[in-house]
Amino acid sequence: ALSVFDGNTAQLFADRDPERSLALPPGESAKTWASVERIINRALAVSMGRDGLIAGIGGGVVTDVTAFAASIYMRGCRLILVPTTLLSMVDAATGGKSGFDFGGVKNLVGSFYPAEEVRICPCMLESLPEREYLSGMAEVLKHAMLTPGPGTGGLLDIVANERDAILARDAQTLERLIPAALKVKIDIVSEDLREQGKRALLNRGHTFGHALEAATNFSRWSHGEAVAWGILRSLDLGERIGLTDKDWADETRRLIADYGFDIVTPQVAPGEIKAAMVDDKKKKDGRLRFVLMKGPGEPVLQEIPEPDLDAVLGIE
Ligand SMILES: NC(=O)c1ccc[n+]([C@@H]2O[C@H](COP(=O)([O-])OP(=O)(O)OC[C@H]3O[C@@H](n4cnc5c(N)ncnc54)[C@H](O)[C@@H]3O)[C@@H](O)[C@H]2O)c1
Repeated sequence: ALSVFDGNTAQLFADRDPERSLALPPGESAKTWASVERIINRALAVSMGRDGLIAGIGGGVVTDVTAFAASIYMRGCRLILVPTTLLSMVDAATGGKSGFDFGGVKNLVGSFYPAEEVRICPCMLESLPEREYLSGMAEVLKHAMLTPGPGTGGLLDIVANERDAILARDAQTLERLIPAALKVKIDIVSEDLREQGKRALLNRGHTFGHALEAATNFSRWSHGEAVAWGILRSLDLGERIGLTDKDWADETRRLIADYGFDIVTPQVAPGEIKAAMVDDKKKKDGRLRFVLMKGPGEPVLQEIPEPDLDAVLGIE
């Protein structure tokens, strides 16, 4: 077997076998073809066969790039993922999407290659920096909004009623929070692995959020902060076109603010955010579609007239 870490997650496994492990540099900048090549070279160096196993142990960067390398090594070898960030536990490591950034485009190259096992240990989160933990919480909140409730005892109730324990990373609370958040993804992905329909609902807040990240060169905002901002803008958009229930939208805004996400409009020219959004869409299917919500657990994928988008972004 070969284990792939990044510089930070390698520190958590002091007894790893140096010959059979590899540490990539931490962060998005390692999500490259060069990292894939390093993994493949090391697998070759240890004479790993097709029945060999590659384990990716880290956040979404490590799990995405390792899964991609496993998907092409000898036309596909065994793969186990051990997510170590909240985001990768509830999202990136499950669902089979692998890949890396190329030509300045995020996740341009990739494959669908679900891991044979995803091993989640909430104790891994103890050493995670606060900003990274909160970044994962934005995805948890996104998943919570896709569930019915409140009052059904599901994920939405956990995030609404147990905020302090969640922010304190209370082990018992995480033991319930993580599976509940993950279930939302599994339920959707098991119906639509290749994103031909329902899976697009998981992109809620991402059209706006990704544009904000791109307009600021992926450096000022964490992914989660951008997604939280994006969820708020999609609430505005849903309300504007008369789709989203106003009381529920206000409740959701309060919940997002409760987790400390900055709800103020970022200091970025709205035109730049829109340009990044249009550019991103051009590279994909060319349509400005957004995941909007009628109410809890009622997402709708909707194409939006440009004037409504402009109004929400604050473009005159
Ligand atoms: N495949 C998918 O379906 C999918 C879904 C969502 C996101 N993603 C991808 O996931 C990536 C983001 O993942 P991420 O937010 O986990 O970022 P990341 O992998 O960059 O990890 C964030 C930081 O936390 C550090 N870290 C990780 N675990 C740690 C731990 N336990 N203790 C201390 N430090 C730790 C990492 O070294 C890194 O510096 C993006 O590239 C995104 O495209 C993929």
